[in-house]
Amino acid sequence: MRTQVVIIGAGPAGLMLSHLLHRQGVASLVLERRSVEYVLGRIRAGVLEQVTTDLLREIGVDAGMARDGLKHEGFCLALDGDMFRIDMHDLTGGKSVMVYGQTQVTKDLVEAFAARPGELIFGAENVTLHDIAGHAPSVTYEKDGRIHQVMCDYIAGCDGYHGVCRASLPAHAGRAFERAYPFGWLGILADVPPCHEELIYSNHERGFALASMRSPTRSRYYVQVPSDEDLAEWPDSRLWDELATRLGPEVAPCIQTGPSIEKSIAGLKSFVFEPMRYGKLFLAGDAAHIVPPTGAKGLNLAMSDVKLLSRALIARYAEGTETELEQYSARALARVWKAERFSWWFTSITHRFPTMDAFDRKMQMAELAYIRGSRAAQAVMAENYVGLPI
Ligand code: FAD
Ligand code: DHB
Repeated sequence: MRTQVVIIGAGPAGLMLSHLLHRQGVASLVLERRSVEYVLGRIRAGVLEQVTTDLLREIGVDAGMARDGLKHEGFCLALDGDMFRIDMHDLTGGKSVMVYGQTQVTKDLVEAFAARPGELIFGAENVTLHDIAGHAPSVTYEKDGRIHQVMCDYIAGCDGYHGVCRASLPAHAGRAFERAYPFGWLGILADVPPCHEELIYSNHERGFALASMRSPTRSRYYVQVPSDEDLAEWPDSRLWDELATRLGPEVAPCIQTGPSIEKSIAGLKSFVFEPMRYGKLFLAGDAAHIVPPTGAKGLNLAMSDVKLLSRALIARYAEGTETELEQYSARALARVWKAERFSWWFTSITHRFPTMDAFDRKMQMAELAYIRGSRAAQAVMAENYVGLPI
């Protein structure tokens, strides 16, 4: 079999890239290792920047978001329970974000493949890349006990942090930059109304907490826990108590508790691999970079990457030149590093680090007090939160 672009991974990056290419007549095949049930069952991010909502509208996959998405024009910060609001709308000249879960985005993008039979394959095992530095790239995979080969012009590595694409690169192909954090986020999803109409990012003496939501009847909360924490140590009742403490006395009475639908711990990491191209292989999304989740940038960065990559591939087929493809990595990385900085900084002012002493704590408190009192500082925060221009 032959196609123009083989896309590895059916996360938000791979699915969106395929739809963007399809609309401009560029053929692609998406290969996903997991089953469709597994992919649609994953609970991840919840906040969409305008770059993401615009792309969903551009490909005509916005009905679910238009119906169920919640437009947010502000969010709250809290220090030891004392809360203040960042008015994103006012501070950015009218911008906002959309609360609409990644699970739902993925479902909408997968459903749109119903009109494109055979172009999205789940359960593709042992995906292997061939001749990525040469003139005849191809991808092989196993499905139903048979080995399939797909010849192509280009390969898009949209297979996440643990995928095969970056792992297939020779050592001289680039350089990784990395920062691990000594804590993770324990997340809980529950069918109870949110405690507040906007998100609350809370820095508490006992550690960070976040109150988020998926809908007016479904809440998503997180608490910071040590990296090696055992989920079994956190029955729902302990988690609800801890959230009430960390979110503070103003919010605690509004927290409605209920059984968890999902509960898991995710580690925090900053990671960038550059350049995001090697030969015929282009990396996009988590395959090339990871941010700590504070600020909800991961999914949105994946989308801005594929916006740039799709335009470069479309230009290549329309004009016959690789000029835009050659610029892809530098253009994507310019935005990636700024989001890395914001996510790292937002994490550093809101979390409790095991090495922190009393002075470090005072610095965090002073920084949050400064943001609270300075419109300029709030504007910097709001501008980054709604997403920087591409
Ligand atoms: P992914 O969504 O990771 O998609 C990659 C796809 O490639 C997957 O479907 C995977 O199964 C597939 N794949 C992997 N290897 C292979 C292979 N060898 N062959 C074929 N397919 C393969 N971001 C936030 O902003 N807020 C959050 O709260 C948040 N929570 C997260 C929780 C977890 C547990 C994780 C892992 C991430 C979270 N993120 C969060 C980050 C955000 O979800 C990601 O940035 C986003 O999913 C990136 O999209 P992607 O398409 O690049 O990668
Ligand atoms: C969510 C996750 C985030 O990382 C964030 O900054 C805001 C919201 C969420 O899952 O709802």
